[in-house]
Amino acid sequence: MIWEFQTEYLVLVVAVVPTVAAACITTVAESGFSNWGNTQARTKNITRINMSQTGGTNGPEPAIPRNGPEPAVAKRITLRNRMHPTIRSKFRMEVTYRYITMKHHIEGAPVESDFELKSASHVLLVNDESNDVLVKNLYISIDPYQLNRMKKYSSSQKGNSFSVGVAPGQAIDAYGIGRVVASANKGFAKDDIVVGVIGWEDYSLSKGGNMLRKLETSEFPLSYQAGILGLSGLTAYAGFYDICKPKKGDKVFVSTASGSVGNLVGQYAKLFGCYVVGCAGTKQKVDMLKEKLGFDDAFNYKEGSDMRSTLKRYFPEGIDIYFDNVGGEMLEAAVANMNPFGRVAVCGVISEYTDSRKRAGPDMLDVIYKRIKIQGFLAADHYHLYGDFISTTSDYIRSGKIHILEDISHGIESVTSAFQGLFRGDNVGKKLVQITEE
Ligand SMILES: NC(=O)c1ccc[n+]([C@@H]2O[C@H](COP(=O)([O-])OP(=O)(O)OC[C@H]3O[C@@H](n4cnc5c(N)ncnc54)[C@H](OP(=O)(O)O)[C@@H]3O)[C@@H](O)[C@H]2O)c1
Repeated sequence: MIWEFQTEYLVLVVAVVPTVAAACITTVAESGFSNWGNTQARTKNITRINMSQTGGTNGPEPAIPRNGPEPAVAKRITLRNRMHPTIRSKFRMEVTYRYITMKHHIEGAPVESDFELKSASHVLLVNDESNDVLVKNLYISIDPYQLNRMKKYSSSQKGNSFSVGVAPGQAIDAYGIGRVVASANKGFAKDDIVVGVIGWEDYSLSKGGNMLRKLETSEFPLSYQAGILGLSGLTAYAGFYDICKPKKGDKVFVSTASGSVGNLVGQYAKLFGCYVVGCAGTKQKVDMLKEKLGFDDAFNYKEGSDMRSTLKRYFPEGIDIYFDNVGGEMLEAAVANMNPFGRVAVCGVISEYTDSRKRAGPDMLDVIYKRIKIQGFLAADHYHLYGDFISTTSDYIRSGKIHILEDISHGIESVTSAFQGLFRGDNVGKKLVQITEE
């Protein structure tokens, strides 16, 4: 372990050249840093770390901006006066990392040329004042709402701290899972697994560490923490139980039913005793909803032109609950088919994200005379349900009552195509990118 190293100065050299890195890994293993070395050796496409006992640097700490210039091929990670884990003293660590940024604001559907992969350095200072945490990213959650952050203007950017706008050139923060590399925060130690706000990058420096939560243990695969046991799961749970206020036998319609949130809403609704119909964009997805996830019925919304009469066919007795992930005409058609005192949970309006001129215009007389409740919501307002959500969902997973749908791409280079795929309907279930192996 790194802390057993009895030396005055320990200098770690980070190299981005694979051949150099391979040689470095050998040095690490031979030096007795086998865990660290092996972890690095398993990772693909990322910076690799070498450690050697050459001298340290005592000069002033360079201020390296997050979006600073391209780093040199080799960088130094320096631990100063780090004698033993029980002795907290000053040290400085610098790591070269790769991150994705936008070249310009994005107003329509995202395309590859909107983005670029860059490199920079994170510097972690461990001293009495700093609470920062340096994290090696394992999984990044790929989420549609990020597109609204990438626009020059979207009303969502004023919504909460998660949805603030991103400027071109800026690093893009995102929900995900990582492993602590080094910490200046007493709440986190090296090798802790953390869940929270990291970024579209292979290493993240969490300022103050307050957007991270330490994961103590988990009986489930780590990736679940960014999907079914993460924000997607909480969104589905809170939206369905708290916003839709279901009753047994209610007739429930779910849009983007094979997506991350939608598939869970449909499964919660079935387990609760509702009649559930979902829609999705391909025949394969529709078949899966009916045959694997146990939906009562499902249809491909891209077939047929009149959504109102389509919904009338699937709900001859009307809709009690509509869980809306889509907005636009789908919301209008659902409202037209709602029963009196129906509830609409407006979770997302993805059909409007790529076309800012598109707006749902439901018949408001329907809303009034049928006393329909339409409520937007954010998962972030429902953390009071977190305990219930985790225990109920964990029980469902353990007993095999709920299916887990994950769609995982690999490597930082795949983040942008994974993101674009959300708006083409490429994903089935929770879209994640595994940045490096656990
Ligand atoms: N309120 C909250 O707190 C909260 C939290 C998380 C997510 N959300 C929202 O919930 C919705 C679902 O998010 P998610 O993470 O679960 O994504 P997702 O459903 O896993 O992925 C997006 C899916 O949307 C569908 N889609 C894309 N463009 C569409 C269009 N123009 N019309 C209809 N469907 C389209 C595609 O499936 P098809 O094959 O079916 O077309 C695609 O696979 C999004 O609107 C998101 O912004 C809200």
